[in-house]
Amino acid sequence: MGLLKKKHDTAGQVDKSRLPRHVAIIMDGNGRWAKRRGLPRTAGHKAGAEVFRRIATYCKDLGMEYLTVYAFSTENWKRPAEEVSAIMGLLHQYMLEAIDSMERDQIRLRFLGDLSAISPELQALVERTNAISERIQGFQANICLNYGGRDEILRAARACASEGGEITEEQFAGHLYSAGIPDPELIIRPGGEQRVSNFLLWQGAYSEFYFCDTLWPDFNESTLDQAIIAYQQRERRFGGVK
Ligand code: FPP
Repeated sequence: MGLLKKKHDTAGQVDKSRLPRHVAIIMDGNGRWAKRRGLPRTAGHKAGAEVFRRIATYCKDLGMEYLTVYAFSTENWKRPAEEVSAIMGLLHQYMLEAIDSMERDQIRLRFLGDLSAISPELQALVERTNAISERIQGFQANICLNYGGRDEILRAARACASEGGEITEEQFAGHLYSAGIPDPELIIRPGGEQRVSNFLLWQGAYSEFYFCDTLWPDFNESTLDQAIIAYQQRERRFGGVK
């Protein structure tokens, strides 16, 4: 390997003047990736967490503002206890590393979801990363943790109802976990399935969707470029005509 890092094959093909501000990803396919290698499913999640680190850095370097990933859904508690604890362990490890590196890397972190159900240790780490994020400007990675789109909408509806009066879209959006974050222009689902799986139901109303067969642990800079290039070739009409 030379001193210069080899550029990936799609490098330079993305139009940086028309980047989505916000890309969201359903990190699917970890289990199948591991199974194909004769490894436990948890090995797929470990590889998936590595890919998240790499893709977050790439999004920031490209000049995007937000990356949101689906790390753990409100339904994922149904998985075997060993798998749940492995995913929580990976998040724990990531947060510990982030506490040391996020200021240097200028990556803000925000966790979206019902965090009351996660362990007190993880909650404390979330608090610490939140405090560091306040000192950072620029790129933000949002990690959906114990997140469900319907749960988020129900909570916002309850909060609005308790405030009384006419409910506006802005008021409603202000009670979502994603309050203050612009909606994602592009939602990517690797792993071959073509469904939303309770992810960003409100925020994705006008998002462009990109599905690909690549399993998340095999996802790389080039796969992301391809998704952005496809997005840049689409015409977004938001219900109107052009
Ligand atoms: C979906 O693949 C993946 C998950 C439910 C977990 C994703 C979690 C991580 C990648 C670790 C999170 C860590 C950080 C640092 C963000 P699957 O298991 O459903 O795959 P399959 O469809 O092949 O079974």
